[in-house]
Amino acid sequence: MIKGPKGIRDILPEEIPNWHHMEACIRETMRRFNYKEIRFPTFEETELFTRSIGVTTDIVEKQMYTFQDAGKRSLTLIPEGTASVVRAYIEHGMAKKSPYVKLYYISRMYRYESPQAGRYRQHSQFGIEAIGSDRPAQDVEVIQILLETLKTLGLKQVELKVNSIGCFDDRMKYTSMLRDYLRPRLDKLCKDCQRRFDSNPLRSLDCKKEQCIKETENAPRTVDHMCSDCTRHFDTVKEYLSLLGMEYIVDPRLVRGLDYYTRTVFEAVSTVLGGQDSLGGGGRYDRLVEELGGEPTPAAGFAAGMERILLAMEKEKVGAKSYPPVDLFIAVLGEKAQVEGMRLATSIRAQGISCHMDIVGRSLKAQMRQADKMGARKVLIIGEDELKNGKAQLKTLETGAQTEVSLSSSEEISKEVKK
Ligand code: HAM
Repeated sequence: MIKGPKGIRDILPEEIPNWHHMEACIRETMRRFNYKEIRFPTFEETELFTRSIGVTTDIVEKQMYTFQDAGKRSLTLIPEGTASVVRAYIEHGMAKKSPYVKLYYISRMYRYESPQAGRYRQHSQFGIEAIGSDRPAQDVEVIQILLETLKTLGLKQVELKVNSIGCFDDRMKYTSMLRDYLRPRLDKLCKDCQRRFDSNPLRSLDCKKEQCIKETENAPRTVDHMCSDCTRHFDTVKEYLSLLGMEYIVDPRLVRGLDYYTRTVFEAVSTVLGGQDSLGGGGRYDRLVEELGGEPTPAAGFAAGMERILLAMEKEKVGAKSYPPVDLFIAVLGEKAQVEGMRLATSIRAQGISCHMDIVGRSLKAQMRQADKMGARKVLIIGEDELKNGKAQLKTLETGAQTEVSLSSSEEISKEVKK
């Protein structure tokens, strides 16, 4: 037997109503904030990710699904959406049509990670990218959209963590300061952090290994070493958050795992999930558009993991959805009844009613059992007598009440089913 690849999940029919519910909440939030949907491809040129996410990040170093196509191009299954949105923004000259664009997406992402609850090799994200504003209010709107969506889904146990990593110049200075701090502690850090000490020491701040958390406990904080513009920007973001009643925690260790960030970074964390508790995260990325070949353009965005959100919803016992029951089950006995049933089902469905008909040739008893099991609201039985008389009984399963209907009038049947 061939099984699905390690780290991927099938989303089975019984889980789908929860997905539909979540997708509807996302689209509704985006409508309220006036963000427009963009759909990008499943794979991109590999260079798009090495240039944007950064060559010394976990994603680019070890997690990308990279392959060569028949034309010997190096392609990569998208590990995230920001790079693709910015690529599309530049490629389609969106800035010429409007200097400010607000986009959202819902898409599958691919990362070769060690699978565990809430961490998969194929996962789904929804996210937004607002391109064109450098205002602190933009950072706040982005955070607000993430929190609003989680709230609409009924999640309450969510904590907002924010930090600022300053502008590019601040980061350069800070990185060298952090290196000085880490140098005497280097042999106590994990192998990955030791290896990235020269190229990207910031990574050790969000390393989850016990020894690295301990060694970086008293490391200098980015927020204490920013230029006055960046400090003012972050202060304004915090003021807005308070003004709008969004509680937050400043987390000096929050630097995020992708290199394109500048200034504000944030994460919404579930307090009911164990290990993989980050529901969504993002921040400002003021240099990325330019780095990918566009005009210098400020931007901010976030992405959230949809499987994790569903896990948190399950833990918080909110929003468990199921399919609505089928309106009508047509049980048929014999060939002729099946033909009549098909004819009736066709016109009844055309009137907007959901209708299930037995086309497996089961006994009447088995069909009734099935109607019961699927929770059908009404059942119509068509056998030889019904065909002869042109009349049949429409039964309400819950009460057992029966109404006689004429088989020649699908309108009459539909009307009765709707009652
Ligand atoms: P990220 O933090 O790498 O950010 O991913 C966003 C969210 O996707 C995470 O918070 C998590 O909920 C979910 N996620 C990530 N990896 C996995 C996985 N292997 N399995 C399940 N869920 C996962 C980004 O991707 C940025 N593009 C966000 C952004 C948008 N920044 C600015 N704009």
